[in-house]
Amino acid sequence: MRNRRAALAAIAGAASLALTLSACGQSGEGGSEESKGDSKGGTIGIAMPTKSSERWISDGNNVVKDLEAKGYKTKLVYGEDKPDQQVSQIENLIAQGVKALIIAAIDNKSLDNVLQQAKDANIPVISYDRLILNSPNVDYYASFDNEKVGQLQANYIVDKLGLKSGKGPFNIELFAGSNDDNNTKYFFNGAMSVLQPYIDSKKLVVRSGQTNMNQVVTLRWDGATAQRRMDDILTKSYKSAKVDAVLSPYDGISIGILSALKSDGYGSGSKPLPVITGQDAELASVKSIIAGQQTQTVYKDLRELAKVASNMVDAALNDKKPEVNDTKTYDNGSKVVPAYLLEPVSVDKTNYDEVLVKGGYYTADQLK
Ligand code: GAL
Repeated sequence: MRNRRAALAAIAGAASLALTLSACGQSGEGGSEESKGDSKGGTIGIAMPTKSSERWISDGNNVVKDLEAKGYKTKLVYGEDKPDQQVSQIENLIAQGVKALIIAAIDNKSLDNVLQQAKDANIPVISYDRLILNSPNVDYYASFDNEKVGQLQANYIVDKLGLKSGKGPFNIELFAGSNDDNNTKYFFNGAMSVLQPYIDSKKLVVRSGQTNMNQVVTLRWDGATAQRRMDDILTKSYKSAKVDAVLSPYDGISIGILSALKSDGYGSGSKPLPVITGQDAELASVKSIIAGQQTQTVYKDLRELAKVASNMVDAALNDKKPEVNDTKTYDNGSKVVPAYLLEPVSVDKTNYDEVLVKGGYYTADQLK
């Protein structure tokens, strides 16, 4: 009997200690000790890369909406494409006691230190769209099948040029995304897995000779940088020839490429615009596709991506296992990060109405 009473007293003591600790955590002082199950109503930090592209504005808004619907508060910050700024923003979010972090990195290798701080404060981290590299403290990855994005772009070019039925040779130029974004190599390698055989058989000719990824990357996905490179290529390699296709990994880059082409007389008279791919189905590019300028884009339903990321946060904070569908592909140099990958869809003039308008992504009015 005495022993039982002593045992009960010990349990009660432990319970009240636990209560003190968790109360402490909620006041924001001893946050690292707080049980994850107590996070309902807590604040989630969301760090997005830039407002210069419409997609990230939608991403931020969608994630906020989904988390608020689940009963969380949110703090959304944008890093203006400056890696240092993003690091200090995340430090601030941690200092403000956020319960979890959703991060779309600017420079995927710059976050190791700050993620260690998150780990020390017991804050789960979701890598959003872009995988954060070289850190063991990335818990989950929400993205799309990024290799397939590149394959969709390249297959579109192959089909449009009629390469499978033996047509050619055609001139093509290649563009890749930012070299500090892990997605870049997935997009580029996915595309090259389709294009390389045609380059080898000389049915596709890259007159600039720039075929390695490090020759064709576009820092920070900047459209003006892509425009300058395209200007340069047209001047040096296309004095007496015409470009038939351009592999572009992203709508903002496609817009820059189109400007260079138009300044060189493409799109009028005897110089039709080449086949130009893209990604993100940004409003300006979908309009450009409808107007017969950009040819294709890869649509990624950002509403779904936001849902995946918010569900991951909610599960992680409630000691549940977030749903993943890939546990092999995304090795970040420290570990293979469990991922949920969504399906990208190729969109052009023939299916934008079906996919984007009927799918509720844009209204018909927005596309006018
Ligand atoms: C990538 C992303 C693309 C595109 C690009 C530029 O990381 O996967 O969809 O948005 O950044 O913002």
